[in-house]
Amino acid sequence: MSTEVSYELSIVVPTLNEIGNIELLCNKIASALKEINWEIIFVDDNSTDGTKELLDQLSLQHDHISAIHRLDRKGLSSACIEGMQASKAPLIAVMDADLQHEETLLPVMLAKFSKKTLGIVVASRFAEGSELGDFSAKRELLSNIGNLLSRTVLKARLTDPLSGFFMLRKALFHQICPKLYGKGFKILLDIFSSAPKQLIFEEVPLRFNTRHSGESKLDTTVALEFIGLLCHKLFGKIIPVRFILFSLVGLTGVGVHLLVLSSFHMLINTEFVWSQTIATYIAMTSNYFINNSFTYRDKKLHGKKLFFGLLSFYLVCSIAAFLNVAFANFLYQKNVHWAIAGTSGALIGAILNYGLSSIFTWRKVKIQ
Ligand code: GDD
Ligand code: MN
Repeated sequence: MSTEVSYELSIVVPTLNEIGNIELLCNKIASALKEINWEIIFVDDNSTDGTKELLDQLSLQHDHISAIHRLDRKGLSSACIEGMQASKAPLIAVMDADLQHEETLLPVMLAKFSKKTLGIVVASRFAEGSELGDFSAKRELLSNIGNLLSRTVLKARLTDPLSGFFMLRKALFHQICPKLYGKGFKILLDIFSSAPKQLIFEEVPLRFNTRHSGESKLDTTVALEFIGLLCHKLFGKIIPVRFILFSLVGLTGVGVHLLVLSSFHMLINTEFVWSQTIATYIAMTSNYFINNSFTYRDKKLHGKKLFFGLLSFYLVCSIAAFLNVAFANFLYQKNVHWAIAGTSGALIGAILNYGLSSIFTWRKVKIQ
């Protein structure tokens, strides 16, 4: 029988290729939290730089370090959620592995919880007294846009709803957990916008350090996933988020179509009917690949399946287009105004396209 340890704080650290940071982070946390019993739970998404092996070694050597390994990259938010689920303490902190988040804030945040009503403390990059380090102008602008957009779904006036460094009560997390969206990068915004009632929160100013080693994983997909989270919170109860994303991709398809059509028809004088055909197929192909990496990121097709998926997508689009035209024409024959008839046809086409491709292209049953 092992001796029972009761932890006061669990620190959840998501990792993706952070080999150069982990040991230093553990040491820094140990020096910052001398007085209390804490555990670290790393959640790794199959890192390829040795992080995985290092985490195994550390968790064997230390009881208060554990690692959750996941096979595919499933995203930062879901990594944090899995880590929080595994917590053995009444308080949970979430922080990055790359030492951008000052570990010395941990005891400061912890002390705030002597106030019984407090639910969550956020380390903010934009509160009075915080510093942004060498945050690039582009990153700062993106953060400001993100903050502004977050206001549309936030009930609380947070200065940094996109922060990745916060501490909350486990009981509160368990209350909110079933309502979380769980996809993408922005777990804090997800927590705040999923809470059934206003959260009682406090902020502490953060000096956002420069990443110690390795690279940031924030990429374009992460920005797009942020839109997914906002759509889910704004319209998720009425329209499925996937449909909204699918429609947004559809709009990019219209752009691609017009670009290709004008290039072929105007620039190289290709006959209209051929220009239109080429543009249609290129737009369908581009829609397919964007949907595969964005809308259906969680069911992404690879290799042979990617090819057969494309063929089934062409087929699905053709069926949807045929029914779109047939329906619009039917309305038009019944003396419905051409614009209403056309829009109704396009809407039916979009719904069919979405429904059929979710069944036939990104289906759940695996093709061998
Ligand atoms: N398990 C897992 N899976 N971990 C991930 C993934 C993933 O898909 N993507 C990133 N991570 C880990 C990284 O290894 C790092 O420890 C942490 O999550 C944050 O990733 P970074 O790539 O360093 O993100 P960033 O510095 O650009 O942005 C961070 O700071 C911002 C400000 O606090 C994130 O925490 C943002 O959410 C936050 O807005
Ligand atoms: Mn970082």
